[in-house]
Amino acid sequence: MTSVPQTTIGIDFGTTNTVVSMTHGDGPATLVRFPAAGGDIFAFRSALSFHAVMGVNGRPNELVTEAGPWAIEAYVEDPLETRFIQSFKTFAASAAFTETKILNKRYLFEDLLSDFLLKLKAHGGAAMDTLPPRVIVGRPVTFAGGNPDEALALARYEAGFRRLGFNDIRYAYEPVGAAFFFARQLKQDATVLVADFGGGTSDFSIVRFERVPSENGGDKLRSTALARSGVGVAGDAFDYRIIDQLVSPELGKGSLYKAFDNRLPIPQRYYTAFARWDQLALLRASKDMRDIRALERTAMEPEKIARLIEVLDDNHGYALYRAVSALKEALSSRDEATFRFEAGSVLIEKAVRRTDFEGWIAPELKAIETAVDQALERSGLGPDGVDRVFLTGGSSFVPAVREIFLRRFGAAKIESGGEFESIASGLALIGRESDLDLWSEKVG
Ligand SMILES: Nc1ncnc2c1ncn2[C@@H]1O[C@H](COP(=O)(O)OP(=O)(O)OP(=O)(O)O)[C@@H](O)[C@H]1O
Ligand SMILES: [Mg+2]
Repeated sequence: MTSVPQTTIGIDFGTTNTVVSMTHGDGPATLVRFPAAGGDIFAFRSALSFHAVMGVNGRPNELVTEAGPWAIEAYVEDPLETRFIQSFKTFAASAAFTETKILNKRYLFEDLLSDFLLKLKAHGGAAMDTLPPRVIVGRPVTFAGGNPDEALALARYEAGFRRLGFNDIRYAYEPVGAAFFFARQLKQDATVLVADFGGGTSDFSIVRFERVPSENGGDKLRSTALARSGVGVAGDAFDYRIIDQLVSPELGKGSLYKAFDNRLPIPQRYYTAFARWDQLALLRASKDMRDIRALERTAMEPEKIARLIEVLDDNHGYALYRAVSALKEALSSRDEATFRFEAGSVLIEKAVRRTDFEGWIAPELKAIETAVDQALERSGLGPDGVDRVFLTGGSSFVPAVREIFLRRFGAAKIESGGEFESIASGLALIGRESDLDLWSEKVG
């Protein structure tokens, strides 16, 4: 008999949400709950805030760090004195991101990660008081970013998670975690394609599950990984398309300004900052901000530049993010919805059809389809070789994303569920696997 570890813990550090699950003995995987203001939650927003506190000299000299919903709260209370960071997993594998300065203090990626995890642990309370030495951490198949450096990302994870006290850190592919969550409900042998659509990445994994006799006379599930693929395109990229279509033009994108006798287009780069939430705060403090202010005097449509300045000055990035998420979620269940962004004196309101949105995200849908086909190719299977398809992750609610699978596999094979919990729970279950080394790897 193989011994069952007392406690296993799986952590799904997501671009948008982080989820922690634990198993005790041979019991089920249970989610760690966090006591937020509106009731307990298990999906802990992957957000950080650094709030400057004034010293006796009237200058900010101390930072109060918060994470999750508490970071959002701190930021909403004092947007001008709070540095708010979300989607930071997106630059885990970016060699171009070396550090960010917050109130003159340097933060490396691992500093952001460990600050975030330590706050998460504190909010987890008694459930996370004493942690086992080993943790199973999820990792995307392909990290987000143009030229992802996987070794760099894992080294940064390693440093961050070690500061939580773990000394045996294993990495398992996020969709494989989801596969183990889904496999609990399998009654018969099956080849399963798992597709996980998050905020930053879309990940695919094909796993064969078979029931085989176990040592104690019953049966157990044997699993074999057949193929995987992934692409750094998911919910955040959909958000950016919405901003680019509905918001940026109202903030001056595509309009002109006067330079001597010429009419020149407003630089596009002011608007690409909206693709990366961390860059908005940096733009606000950059030299570009001076140029943007000057543009208000030379712009052909100065009222649009005035809006851009207000959004940046007053740090309305999060309100914008909320408006965009609300539209996207509404369009998952309705054919048409109203986009409404109101912050300070800026008001943008527009009716949007689901088909409009689907047109805007067509390049992302294409990239996702290519990655799905890549997983199939690598497995050597055609669509007929896949018995079940499990769709999970928050962005799997998008109908056009589901459509990709309906077209290939038909409705009968498709299941969905555990959108926000499947990965963490599966990771905790992997921690109990007798052949853990097969399903997870170590770094260093
Ligand atoms: N109803 C919905 N319709 C469309 N998108 C949704 C819906 N609900 C959540 N989302 C999107 O799902 C994403 C978050 O999903 P999830 O929590 O699975 O991601 P994550 O695990 O944090 O990210 P990743 O796995 O990429 O690191 C966000 O982009 C969010 O806007
Ligand atoms: Mg995820």
